[in-house]
Amino acid sequence: MEEKIKELRAALEADMAGVQNKDQLSAFWQKYLSKNGSVAGLTKNLRDVPKEDRPAVGKTINEFKTWAEGQYKALSEQVEQAALAARNEAETVDITLPAKRHHCGGLHPITLVKNEIIDVFAGMGFEIYEGPEIEDDDHNFTRLNVPKNHPARDMQDTFYVAEDIVLRTQTSGGQIRVMDREKPPIKVLVPGRVFRSDSDATHSPMFHQMEGLVVDKNITLCDLQGMLDKFVQALFGPEVKTRLRPSYFPFTEPSVEVDVSCFACGGKGCSLCKGTGWIEVLGAGVVHQNVLKNCGIDPQEYSGFAFGIGIERIAMLKYGINNIGLMFENDLRFLEQFKD
Ligand code: DAH
Repeated sequence: MEEKIKELRAALEADMAGVQNKDQLSAFWQKYLSKNGSVAGLTKNLRDVPKEDRPAVGKTINEFKTWAEGQYKALSEQVEQAALAARNEAETVDITLPAKRHHCGGLHPITLVKNEIIDVFAGMGFEIYEGPEIEDDDHNFTRLNVPKNHPARDMQDTFYVAEDIVLRTQTSGGQIRVMDREKPPIKVLVPGRVFRSDSDATHSPMFHQMEGLVVDKNITLCDLQGMLDKFVQALFGPEVKTRLRPSYFPFTEPSVEVDVSCFACGGKGCSLCKGTGWIEVLGAGVVHQNVLKNCGIDPQEYSGFAFGIGIERIAMLKYGINNIGLMFENDLRFLEQFKD
């Protein structure tokens, strides 16, 4: 019996080395430890052992059985561990793998500048009004003190949609629409797209303006300049100042062209300001009495100022863009430069 156990132990140990997976483990159990397995078979042989030796041999068999079960247990843990390790290996995430890049959009420079302008004036209590892009002659010209056949109509190359309907050439028509609806005090901004038959490096047939209108008692040109000083300082830096030059617009009297001291050279003269130290940024003036009258506002009681800002012009100055066309080509190489 001793001999048999020894052989079985050797066979069992030899087989153990070949057990790698669950199937092999279960075959191993079947072969040695099941009811019909070789270890159980030893007990059956006990019958052939002389009676007096049976207790000692039985004990040896039991010890061997305990040992064999211990081996099986260790083996099954080993197989389990190996299976877990294989699974972990298969499911490992490679954290060194570069992540997929997601392209994130940004705001267009025109939108950035438009938002910035609105922010400044909203802080001064301005409201926003948006008028129609297809406008009638009355609002775009006549009631702005530009009657039919007036030479001032030649200041802008107008797209006509029908005889008395135009693509608005300016946001100034918004002034009329606002004054028709509201009575003073008025403080409003009119952002929007405008259209003119004009195209070169600094002009586009479609561009954006921001109209401003303030109407109240005792409004003067000084109020305009004070407000514009704050505006240009917010946009171009605290050290810049404004200069007003006499000009002509049919809907304002007096009319001015507003220059800002050059923020690139501090006013000494450079290529941006063409050596003058000043850069023209917008048109403005005191609202013409005829315009107030055309909207039923008494010019003896109220006065106002208005201004018109070209948004592309401000964006070009602010970001150093030398061709207006770049802003409408939707070239990502250009647009991505404005992402925060
Ligand atoms: N509408 C003018 C233009 O398109 C700009 C402008 C000038 C607007 C003076 C105004 C203003 O409100 O007062 O050239």
